[in-house]
Amino acid sequence: MDDDYRGSGLTFPDGFLFGSATASYQIEGAATEDGRGPSIWDMFSHTPGRVVHGHTGDIACDHYHRLDEDLDLMQQLGLQSYRFSIAWPRIQAAGTGPANERGLAFYNRLVDGLLERGIRPIATMYHWDLPQALEDEGGWTSRDTAYRFADYAHHLGEALGDRIAMWTTLNEPWCSSFLGYGSGAHAPGRTDGREALTAVHHLNLAHGLGLQALRTSVTRPGTEYSATLNFHVPRPAPDTADESTAEAMRRIDALANRSFTGPMLRGAYPEDLLADTAAVTDWGFVRDGDLATIHQPIDVLGVNYYSTVTVRMWDGVSERVRADGHAASAGSAWPGSDEVEFLQQPGPYTAMGWNIAPEALEQLLVSLHEQFPGLPLMVTENGAAFDDRVVDGRVPDTDRIDFLRRHFTAAHRAIERGVDLRGFQVWSLMDNFEWSYGYTKRFGIVRVDYDTLERTPKDSAHWYAELIRTRTIPA
Ligand code: FCB
Repeated sequence: MDDDYRGSGLTFPDGFLFGSATASYQIEGAATEDGRGPSIWDMFSHTPGRVVHGHTGDIACDHYHRLDEDLDLMQQLGLQSYRFSIAWPRIQAAGTGPANERGLAFYNRLVDGLLERGIRPIATMYHWDLPQALEDEGGWTSRDTAYRFADYAHHLGEALGDRIAMWTTLNEPWCSSFLGYGSGAHAPGRTDGREALTAVHHLNLAHGLGLQALRTSVTRPGTEYSATLNFHVPRPAPDTADESTAEAMRRIDALANRSFTGPMLRGAYPEDLLADTAAVTDWGFVRDGDLATIHQPIDVLGVNYYSTVTVRMWDGVSERVRADGHAASAGSAWPGSDEVEFLQQPGPYTAMGWNIAPEALEQLLVSLHEQFPGLPLMVTENGAAFDDRVVDGRVPDTDRIDFLRRHFTAAHRAIERGVDLRGFQVWSLMDNFEWSYGYTKRFGIVRVDYDTLERTPKDSAHWYAELIRTRTIPA
């Protein structure tokens, strides 16, 4: 096979789950309907200057009202699984108390609609839409939020736990903590390194408590439990001293990756992480017993992957480069490691400016398999934004097909190398609200016309449908 990862004719094993992913705030709209309370993303997007063009999720793709149409679309594409998230403020408007039956009714319809169409439901409990009322009490810097999350998880288990095939506690807690409380690029937009690290721990605690609560209320036999992390894949900077780049790679791996895999999968925060951040916090918010609570068995580790970072230690003299792929903002996403430089990387790039590096997906999956032998993996997000064009009612998104071909090839290579990879959920089923970029970045395999809300499967959707039907990467 060519080394450019443009594979074809590669067949995936039986049982490998081909699906697609979305998240509640990015697609649902209906922001004030049926008892939904405000989330930190409602507050943030309605604050001038936070999101490009002042875009909000008020209407988004109007999925809340177009559920049946969207379910039919998934069926037409032949999706075998659908990864969606549940909006906490639909279930508990202020993040506490009894479950809101009208909110639950929507997810009941969604789950039943998936099962009727033979599509396996993969539910994420938290994809960033924290009830604003909890943020007002401290948000993820407050330990209590982790306990509120456990109550919420218990409600979800009781209501949906007879049908959901796989539960994911958190999506990308790195973004929730470091972009939400450190850099401020994401809601709630706070910019304090100590708060970011406090949020890391309370998110980890929520993961553990949430799993415990789910397990007491879920009834479906064979239900699987997982968490989804966005791994940063650090690469050495060329023409840089080995020690500088090795130190930078170690620091970024500690902050971005091992601050979650450490407690969740090994039951401890890495010593080097504690040392790197010692000037920011003494981690006094970690209480006796917390690590045992966090270290719950999981069945699958969800892996979100888009691109790499190239790092070295800043020399203290030249202008510091900060091309870490995350939207620029007031604070830092790297508390304790601000002297790491993120270099501009060679292309090609997607419309996000992210470099396209399928080989790093293979490398990541193999590395996780080696770090955590016996732990099944699933690609829970991978995909690309491009500036799509509509031509005679069609969307010829050849860039996206090429991107997907190369990343499915990478996934296939990882399987050949012995990785227990259970599936691949393409981000995203449809164009949607891309956080601080609003509606300016299109990740969908289905186009959404934001004036009419009409859905049009792009060429990539047809390509993916053929991959799913044949289990083989099309020529
Ligand atoms: C991930 C998020 C997802 C989407 C993609 C592009 O970080 O989990 O919601 O925005 O990036």
